[in-house]
Amino acid sequence: MATLVTYFSAEGTTAKVAKDYAERIGADVFEIVPQEPYTAADIRWTNPLARCNREQIGGKDVPVNGNIESFESYDTVYIGFPIWYGQAPRVVHTFCKGYDWTGKTVHAFATSGGSGIGKTAEKLKPSLQGVESVDAKLVHSATEI
Ligand SMILES: Cc1cc2nc3c(=O)[nH]c(=O)nc-3n(C[C@H](O)[C@H](O)[C@H](O)COP(=O)(O)O)c2cc1C
Repeated sequence: MATLVTYFSAEGTTAKVAKDYAERIGADVFEIVPQEPYTAADIRWTNPLARCNREQIGGKDVPVNGNIESFESYDTVYIGFPIWYGQAPRVVHTFCKGYDWTGKTVHAFATSGGSGIGKTAEKLKPSLQGVESVDAKLVHSATEI
């Protein structure tokens, strides 16, 4: 069975970590890209009316571009993302809800502006239907995953 590294990154930090890690372990990569890409204004969380705040407060789904081919062929899936509001961004939840995770092991990893990993794994689990196990850790580089 194979390993897949997926990631969402709005500002590039998580993307670098994810790509470095995928290269280290020789895994396939899937980038989680929102159908409507985030502009700088969209993620300005200091503005209460910014898109990121509206999505978070509304618990909204954020549709994702494309699809992972042969998803069933992976038994271990890494999911990388920035911590938004103390957990995974809404787009990551929507991504997760689009697949059947039965029997799969998920290792989530996140970068942040200072927050810890908190209850990220527990909060992501309901979006990972059938998942065998899920854990999450905060990282600064690929060597920490
Ligand atoms: C909408 C939004 C919400 C954020 N919420 C948090 C937070 O709750 N805690 C934190 O430490 N950092 C927070 N950050 C900062 C990011 O987690 C941090 O800059 C991350 O490394 C960015 O990763 P990226 O470059 O892959 O997007 C937030 C950033 C954005 C844009």
